[in-house]
Amino acid sequence: MKLPSQGSSIEAVVDKMKERKAEDANWRGARTFSLVYPAGEEVDRALREFNNLYLYENALNPFRFPSLHTMEKEVVAMTTDLLHGDENAAGAMTSGGTESILMAVKTARDRARAERGVTAPQLLAPVSAHPAFAKAAMYLGLEHVQIPLADDLRADVSAAAKLITDQTAIVVGSAPNYPHGMIDPIPELAALAAERGIHFHTDACVGGFMLPFLEKLGHDIPPFDFRVPGVTTISADVHKYGYCTKGASVIAHRHKDTAQYQMFLYDKWPGGVYGSFAMAGARPAAPIAAAWGIMNFLGEAGYLRLAGRAIAAAQKMRAGIEAIPELRIWGKPVATLTAFGSDSIDIMAVGDVMDDRGWHLDRQQGPAALHMMVSPEHDRVADQFLSDLRAAVAQHGESRGVAARYS
Ligand SMILES: Cc1ncc(COP(=O)(O)O)c(C=O)c1O
Repeated sequence: MKLPSQGSSIEAVVDKMKERKAEDANWRGARTFSLVYPAGEEVDRALREFNNLYLYENALNPFRFPSLHTMEKEVVAMTTDLLHGDENAAGAMTSGGTESILMAVKTARDRARAERGVTAPQLLAPVSAHPAFAKAAMYLGLEHVQIPLADDLRADVSAAAKLITDQTAIVVGSAPNYPHGMIDPIPELAALAAERGIHFHTDACVGGFMLPFLEKLGHDIPPFDFRVPGVTTISADVHKYGYCTKGASVIAHRHKDTAQYQMFLYDKWPGGVYGSFAMAGARPAAPIAAAWGIMNFLGEAGYLRLAGRAIAAAQKMRAGIEAIPELRIWGKPVATLTAFGSDSIDIMAVGDVMDDRGWHLDRQQGPAALHMMVSPEHDRVADQFLSDLRAAVAQHGESRGVAARYS
């Protein structure tokens, strides 16, 4: 396609966009299970206002737009507080979980080099850890070593102990992991790392804005945050269960001392001294404003209400899945993620029928499964979902062989 020689009216362009958008997944109807975290019309209206106010500003230079600097600091402070950091905690906002993970791995790599003389750094992460860790290892020149899973689908701690070497720069655990919604044994993994002076990262990209509220609602949540000795950094995504529009995550440090390794500072440029805490240079302002806005709009009470709705929907859907004899849930998820498969029927074919009925379930491999990241708005459609699932199990045919999709 070439750039059009003449422009069009705003209306004509918007009409064209709307026509194309009609082909997209219907997330507003809570028909998708990841990618978007629908939390209702009020949250939607609020986010439009917050984003609109900051469409043009740039968060690269904290001196030009001090409001952004202040909002970023406050988002980080509110997040580290939720994760039980103390007054020594520090952090920064990034564009998403992947960038927060990249920054954690960079921190760990540079720290291991400076403090332990590590020259061939290794990253030790469970098989179920998000591919962002494989990406970080590849981008940042670490060897990616995988921790196998135990039968309960959590990282196998004794296997991890055997894989640690004097070149291990970072050990990782997820809270929860994406594939099965399981929380790794964070205290045991973090202890293995701490005993050897190794950086430990909890990936709470999914759980960071869900688990603290589930705990407050009385759910039994395994320890994963800064209350666990040895946890050095945590990633927590405001654009997942913080319900912010995309582009907002926090990389939190237990202690500001490790944050210095995240910093990039360059003073040999004619353009001036250049400093940055993230991969990006120019940084959009809207995600910072939207994150600060949504956290203040919802407050603890709002997050508790939404977490309560999401967990109730997840539990209802899990109970409904367990009541279908051909299906079974993988592992014992405690939060709002669930993967389910079958020992007797082709689960991918069931997914195809669900596609035809307008549901968008991600496909997984090893074991084959359909995947759900349940949001508050799913409570409106849980009954319809289960009745369609029962029908899909009854009528499924051959799988169309849809390739595994990743979030
Ligand atoms: C556990 C976990 N960590 C990290 C990420 C990466 O987050 P992002 O897609 O925002 O880069 C995801 C994404 O789903 C995730 O589920």
